[in-house]
Amino acid sequence: MTQEIAVLSAQPDMALESPAVRKVFVKTYGCQMNVYDSDRMTDALAKDGYVSTDVMEDADLVLLNTCHIREKAAEKVYSALGRLRDLKKKKAGEGREMMIGVAGCVAQAEGDEILRRAPAVDLVIGPQTYHRLPEALQRVKRGERVLETDYAIEDKFEHLPAPDKAKTRARGVTAFLTVQEGCDKFCTFCVVPYTRGSEVSRPVAQIVAEAQKLVDAGVREITLLGQNVNAWHGVGADGEKWGLGELLHRLTRIEGLARLRYTTSHPRDMDDSLIDAHRDLPQLMPYLHLPIQSGSNRILKAMNRRHTTAEYIALIARIKAARPDLALSGDFIVGFPGETDEDFEDTLRLVETVGYAQAFSFKYSTRPGTPGADLGDQVPEDVKAKRLERLQALLLKQQNEFAQQCIGKTIDLLLEKPGRMPGQLIGRSPWLQSVNVDANASQIGDIVSVRITGAGPNSLFAEVVS
Ligand code: SAH
Ligand code: SF4
Ligand code: F3S
Repeated sequence: MTQEIAVLSAQPDMALESPAVRKVFVKTYGCQMNVYDSDRMTDALAKDGYVSTDVMEDADLVLLNTCHIREKAAEKVYSALGRLRDLKKKKAGEGREMMIGVAGCVAQAEGDEILRRAPAVDLVIGPQTYHRLPEALQRVKRGERVLETDYAIEDKFEHLPAPDKAKTRARGVTAFLTVQEGCDKFCTFCVVPYTRGSEVSRPVAQIVAEAQKLVDAGVREITLLGQNVNAWHGVGADGEKWGLGELLHRLTRIEGLARLRYTTSHPRDMDDSLIDAHRDLPQLMPYLHLPIQSGSNRILKAMNRRHTTAEYIALIARIKAARPDLALSGDFIVGFPGETDEDFEDTLRLVETVGYAQAFSFKYSTRPGTPGADLGDQVPEDVKAKRLERLQALLLKQQNEFAQQCIGKTIDLLLEKPGRMPGQLIGRSPWLQSVNVDANASQIGDIVSVRITGAGPNSLFAEVVS
């Protein structure tokens, strides 16, 4: 849940045009949990007659679902708001109203500042309060500028509508399902415990019901989401707290649900039952995002990660013993305060030892309010840039090697969407790679056996094995 993605989660709806129809444009920044939330907000607004548009100029309501993880991510919001202010003015000149809302982690962290710095913003709403969105918009209509960032006492998931069938169909055969929010780990570089609050786990019954709805609408693969997903401990039907391994077992009983994934995991929360699930459940895909952040024990300690590199390597050995074809992905931060050349070399050595199929890496970004911001010995930007370049070159090499190793293999492919060329579809390998294959659009949602024939920079090529 790492790379900064800017996804247009808005899907054009099939609703008939009528003057009563209002249009919402949602732009999503940040992690998959924001993608999930954007869809839930769109679903919540549907009750009030809103349909999605992917044309910002047509929107009656523009919602930015924002990310605060690095300074750059947060800055993007203010530049987007500058452009939106101009659009709002232009539309007002044409007699058309446009509301602007800011949601997500920047909203939670800097709500007051947004309202102060961006007078065109009508609404600021934090991630725990999305179920109050329709009511907040009513208040905007009455002329208020709304700030809704208090942590709600009620559970947002109990009040947000479950995924809508038609919309789920339009969104495709893979889906995200948030099972856990917030984080209690307090890594010293990270804003998430402040923007998303402390850990909350959804109960089993709620998750199973939502998964069933997704599958009824044609979803074949579900990725369970949480900022710290393997810390999930939801209440089961027996009144006991279950772990993620047990939840995965339960979900495999849903007929038609072919594939399961979960992200993002903390190494300290990989318990035995979850590791066993990788051995016992063929539906659980052999791909795990397990960030370590640094290969230096000294830096891991300063980051408050509460694990060592040796523990991490031993853990991976246990998971691979359970599921030998498992591939790993990870996150790295270079230039954490006090990181020396030697510490950085340790990170390169760890990457060599582990071998990643994919990984995300970032220059440390000082985040106000986190303990890291108060540490001395900040690493100069040019040093961070050089380290990042070396690390990314190594990670890219590993990613290419992993892709090359796939050539010649026969694998199961979940056919997801049309490809670039007519007669081509794009599917997803068990290891989350995009694979291009000649197939008919009617096969979307099928899992077919394919032989990998080649590898490009970002995707693989394959042919269907009859
Ligand atoms: N919950 C996940 C990660 C959430 S944030 C976990 O525990 O791994 C996603 C990634 O952003 C992190 O893994 C980290 O690599 C990166 N990140 C977080 N804070 C950062 C910061 N201040 N500067 C640079 N990268 C950061
Ligand atoms: Fe941030 Fe650490 Fe929590 Fe991940 S585990 S969300 S990096 S505080
Ligand atoms: Fe960003 Fe918030 Fe996700 S800070 S990474 S959108 S939890």
